[in-house]
Amino acid sequence: MSSPVAIVTGASSGIGLAITMHLLSRGFRVVMADVNAADGTRISAELGESTKFIQTNVAVYADQAVLFREAFKWGGNRLDFLAANAGIDDRQSLYEEDSEESEDGTPKELSLLTLRVNLDAVFQGIWLFKHYVRKNAIPGGKIVITSSAAGFYPMSSNPQYTASKHGLIGLTRAAGLHQPLISENITVNCICPTFVHTNLCPPHIRDKFPQEHVTPMSTVLKAVDLFLDSSASGETVELSLGQLHYRKVPPYLDDNTRWLGQEAAKLWEEGYEQPPQLKEQAV
Ligand SMILES: NC(=O)c1ccc[n+]([C@@H]2O[C@H](COP(=O)([O-])OP(=O)(O)OC[C@H]3O[C@@H](n4cnc5c(N)ncnc54)[C@H](O)[C@@H]3O)[C@@H](O)[C@H]2O)c1
Repeated sequence: MSSPVAIVTGASSGIGLAITMHLLSRGFRVVMADVNAADGTRISAELGESTKFIQTNVAVYADQAVLFREAFKWGGNRLDFLAANAGIDDRQSLYEEDSEESEDGTPKELSLLTLRVNLDAVFQGIWLFKHYVRKNAIPGGKIVITSSAAGFYPMSSNPQYTASKHGLIGLTRAAGLHQPLISENITVNCICPTFVHTNLCPPHIRDKFPQEHVTPMSTVLKAVDLFLDSSASGETVELSLGQLHYRKVPPYLDDNTRWLGQEAAKLWEEGYEQPPQLKEQAV
C-alpha cells in the first residue's frame, strides 16, 4: 500500500517546516505549500522525493484549488492529512492615526489580509480537503489547524490576529463536531501554541522573550501526534511549554442556553433542509 499523503501550508518556515519534517519521519509524503518559493523549493529539494513544493498563496482560492488537485494527483489519488498552518500577524493597524484618504475624503479601506490568510483560507482548505478525501480508496482524512493562544486571550496589538485565531477555534468546534463529517471519517482539530521561536515574531521582539516563556517545537509535534493517532474531532488543545491542555467548549450558562445550543440544533437542521428560502437570501 502507498504511504499516506499530507498537505502542510506555511511549510517553508517555523511550525509548518517542523510539522513537515515530523510527518516525513512518520512515513508520510508531504506537499509543502507556501508563498515563499525560494526557501520552499530549496528545502523541498534538500528533504528529497517524499516532498513536493507547490508555491501557494492560501489567501487566493485558485492557488489552493491547484494545490489540492496537484497534491491528490502526486499522491496517486490519495490525500490523508492537512496541516492548515499558514498564518501572519496584522499587516495594517486598526488603530492607525493618519489613515490614507480616498478621493472623496473618506478613509481608505482597512486591509483585512490577516483575516483572509489566517481564517478565510482555512475555510477554503477544509472545503477542498473534504472534496478530495471523499475520493480516497478508504474515504476520510484528518485536519489539524494551527490556531494560537491568541484564540483564547486578546492580543490588543494584533486585533485581526486575535479575531482570526478565535475564529479558528469556533470553526474547529463547529465543523469538527458536525456528525455527518465525522461519520465520513473527516476530523477537524486545532492546536493553540503559546510563544514558539519562529520567523512569525520580528527578531527585535522575539529576542527579548525570556527562554522560560518559549514553548519548544517538540510540544507542537506532540499535539499533532495526538490528533494523528486518534479519531477525536472538534478538540482544541492549548500548548504551554511542555504541556498540552484540552480546552473544552464552555459550559452552558443555564437551561435556556443549553436548549438553544443543543435542542435548537434540530430546528436549524430542519430549516437548512428547505434550501429555496436560504438560496433566496444568498448574495
Ligand atoms: N510562533 C508562535 O509563537 C506561534 C504561536 C501561536 C500560533 N502560531 C501560528 O503558527 C502558524 C505558523 O507560524 P510560524 O510561527 O511557524 O511562523 P513563520 O513565519 O515561521 O511561518 C509561517 C509561514 O507561513 C507562510 N505564509 C505566510 N503567508 C502565507 C500565505 N498567504 N500563503 C501561504 N503561506 C504563507 C510564510 O511564508 C512562512 O513560511 C501561524 O498560523 C501562526 O499564527 C505561531
